[in-house]
Parts: sequence; structure tokens; C-alpha cells
Amino acid sequence: MALSLEIRGLDAGYGAVRALHGVSLSIGEKETVALLGTNGNGKSTLMKCVMGMVRPSRGDIVLNLDGQAFDLKTLSTEAIVDLGVAMVPEGRRLFPRLTVEENLLLGAYRRASRRQLGRNLEFCYEAFPVLKERRRQLAGSMSGGQQQMLAIARALMSAPKLLLVDEPSVGLAPILVSHTITKIKELKEEYGLTVLMAEQNFHQAIRIADRGSIIVHGEIVFSGTVSELEKNELVKSYYLGT
Ligand SMILES: Nc1ncnc2c1ncn2[C@@H]1O[C@H](COP(=O)(O)OP(=O)(O)OP(=O)(O)O)[C@@H](O)[C@H]1O
Ligand SMILES: [Mg+2]
Repeated sequence: MALSLEIRGLDAGYGAVRALHGVSLSIGEKETVALLGTNGNGKSTLMKCVMGMVRPSRGDIVLNLDGQAFDLKTLSTEAIVDLGVAMVPEGRRLFPRLTVEENLLLGAYRRASRRQLGRNLEFCYEAFPVLKERRRQLAGSMSGGQQQMLAIARALMSAPKLLLVDEPSVGLAPILVSHTITKIKELKEEYGLTVLMAEQNFHQAIRIADRGSIIVHGEIVFSGTVSELEKNELVKSYYLGT
């Protein structure tokens, strides 16, 4: 299945707040692209635009699937999920008083994914054995790292081809950050996912990314391969402290 996402000239905001200015970004099949930026620079807004949760005022978001182009700007979030796009939201957004399994089942609320519920649940448990062991545990009683795994697994319950992950490292101890990022890479490789990951943690993000874009005040100021990023002056001053 051929897949790509093309974002072109995107403007978006919240009332008088302009959050994105002319953002362009492309992701090819089975690539991992990192969206790098510090707090409040527009990473989540861009992801929400892709999911149809924030409507851009200008620009295009086109998902190409097997030679067919879908204009995501005009589709509902439900329709976008049905096309095979899922997001792991910032802050995980789990239901703490529901069990692990109940949280997973809520990830499959779309009719298309309900049909394959059993298979997708098995798939999640195979990818995350710890969730199977703890399937009756309340989500809120799990460790931060386990909760992030659950949030990722829940997104996989709709059997996505394109996975958006919004700041998976936030709030995790350094060792868990590393585990989580490694897990995303494994999932991507094993299941042929295409990944767009927003991160502030430059070093962790570039461990698994093919390419990255830096967003500052709602504008993409640099896009390149990982080795180009490492040599970039902006990156050096923002992230590498040199
Ligand atoms: N619901 C909202 N209403 C008004 N302004 C918002 C809203 N959400 C975000 N913003 C503003 O839009 C800008 C971009 O925010 P966004 O959440 O996209 O940044 P971010 O890069 O994801 O930051 P963080 O790393 O803190 O998650 C910020 O100025 C933010 O204050
Ligand atoms: Mg954010």
C-alpha cells in the first residue's frame, strides 16, 4: 500500500492566536519524521490539523493512499481515522478509572475497527505483553511508562498505517523515555507504520527519525535528514547547548 502525507502552506490558530504560519511538511511511506520544537511552538496544533481536530484557515493536508488523494481538511476526525490515521495525544489522555483492556477497547470505537476487534486486541497484546498481563488493572494505577505504552497501544486499536505521536517522552523518567522511543521504532519496523512524532527531546527523537523539521513560533525553520539536523546551527543553539 502506497502512502504519503503532504502538508502545504498551512495556517491555523485559535481565534486571534495564530499558531501555524505557512507550514509545509511531507512524510513518505514507512518514514519516521520528527517534528522538533520547544513549548508552545505549534507541534500539537499541526497534529490536530492532520486529525481534523483543528481546522486550518489556509493550506492543504493531503493523504495519498494507493494513488487516491484525500483532502483531510474536508474530512471529519472519524473519517480520517477510518483512512488509517491515528494519534497518540499529548499527555496520553487515558481513562484512569477504566482498566487497561477497557481503555484499549475504546480505541476501537469506529465501526471499521470494531469488526477486527479481537485481532487488533491480540495484536496490541503481542506488541505489549505487559498490557496483557495487566489487562484488568486500572490504567491510572500503572507507571508513567506503562501508561504511555497503553496510550500507544490504544491508538493501534484502529489499525493505523500513519501514526502521529505527540511528545511521547513528556513526564517520563529518562530511562523510560528511551524505552518508549525504542518501542515506537520497533512497532514501526515490525508493522510497517509511517510515523510523525512531535518531540522536544532532540537526542531521543533523532535516534529513530529518518528526517526532522524544526518548528519555531509556528513556522518550519529547518527540515533535513538527521545528519543535516545535527550540523544545523539552530539545532546547536536550541538543543545541543553549543
Ligand atoms: N485551545 C487553544 N486556545 C488558544 N490558544 C491555543 C490553544 N491551544 C494552543 N494554543 C496556542 O497555540 C500555540 C501553539 O500551541 P501548541 O499546543 O500547538 O504548541 P506545542 O508545540 O504543542 O507546545 P507543547 O510542547 O507545550 O505541547 C501556543 O501559543 C498556544 O498557547
Ligand atoms: Mg504540544
